[in-house]
Amino acid sequence: MDKKINNIQSLRGMKDIKEQEGELFNYFISNASKIASRYGFSYLETPILEETALFKRSVGESSDIVGKEMYQFMDKGKNDVCLRPEGTAGVVRMFIQNKLDRAGGTRKYFYHGPMFRYERPQKGRLREFHQFGCESFGEASVYEDANIILMICEILKSVGIGYKLLINSLGCTKCMPPYKENLVAHLKDLHLCEDCDRRIESNPIRVLDCKNESCKMELKNAPKITYNLCEDCDDDFAQLKKILNDNDVAYEIDTNLVRGLDYYTKTAFEFISDEIGSQSAIAGGGRYDRLTEFLGGRTTPAVGFAIGIERLLELIKMKEESEEIIYIGAMCEEALEQVFHIVANKRKMVKVLTDYKSRSFTKHLENSQKLNATVIALIGYNELTNGTIWIKDIKLNQEKIILREKF
Ligand code: HAM
Repeated sequence: MDKKINNIQSLRGMKDIKEQEGELFNYFISNASKIASRYGFSYLETPILEETALFKRSVGESSDIVGKEMYQFMDKGKNDVCLRPEGTAGVVRMFIQNKLDRAGGTRKYFYHGPMFRYERPQKGRLREFHQFGCESFGEASVYEDANIILMICEILKSVGIGYKLLINSLGCTKCMPPYKENLVAHLKDLHLCEDCDRRIESNPIRVLDCKNESCKMELKNAPKITYNLCEDCDDDFAQLKKILNDNDVAYEIDTNLVRGLDYYTKTAFEFISDEIGSQSAIAGGGRYDRLTEFLGGRTTPAVGFAIGIERLLELIKMKEESEEIIYIGAMCEEALEQVFHIVANKRKMVKVLTDYKSRSFTKHLENSQKLNATVIALIGYNELTNGTIWIKDIKLNQEKIILREKF
């Protein structure tokens, strides 16, 4: 047998989700699923493998996802197939295939599962990653856009992580074409990178979110779609801002937020965090009123989003690592009553771990390390009689004895 067989590793940019992370992953899915059900979404599973044409027509041939990042191959039946790079296209395919575009009314689905993009792996950027997403069909009102945004806020708050919400409007068939013409005329005179020069022809609005610093400077005075919307889109955008304000949802308008997928119209949004490095988007989405039509169905208004689960888990883990955990222990039987009293009090504010047994100093240190305590507090005979407590701050590596009433 070939010896190398023992060294098989997972593919680059693909990872196992196991143990503590596996628990968190599971917890997040069940929690987000409960919230989505409460908002009227029902669970949907679509195949991971789809025809390549589906993504070319929806995500767009000019996008990086379709142009550079697809896991595309011919199967044994010579069908051109691809591992899904995102979830929306498959859901829309299912919607049309089952003639739901002709059934009228509203339909709402949530899903979760692996997505594949052949990108250069780095922190927060994987080749196989997982999304939790929702898609709502048949609701043209901007209240549904707001509803979706509120739901994401609730999901993110339920796992206790902070975020910044960026919104923009990408207009419609009425206001986008004249805006694009205007933009292209402006861009042609600028000195931009090669990628941008290529995009001026294929998809000029993508030039607006180029990350290249010199392009950013050049683009400072580029016309903004948000200030060139038709009356309908402008009213909807104003209404969205009003609903978010009325519901205490903080947001920023980012006129350069164009998203990396071509199917959006009107509302576009991203939830970002500045704690996870350059890959800062934890969720993204928006309205895509023309996608069913692009894929051969009857025009149906639609809006949705997807959360990147690995990026979210990274944030949850960071939060847990920075959390204070106090370990309190007794070093003689007589101190147990005091330990019980302090634990009961401290627990009102922070996470406190203990067990009600008298143990040696060394044993307590060992236990506290196993439990990842950030502060250790111990009471023995001396402390008990002097009204004091011994404390060690693990992060600062400082220990001291203080009066118990000051702890
Ligand atoms: P997206 O912005 O391409 O949107 O992806 C959504 C989220 O997936 C991102 O915000 C990010 O957290 C995560 N993500 C994307 N690429 C990677 C990667 N390479 N590694 C790790 N995480 C990643 C969509 O996919 C749309 N389908 C969202 C949507 C649904 N719009 C309407 N409905």
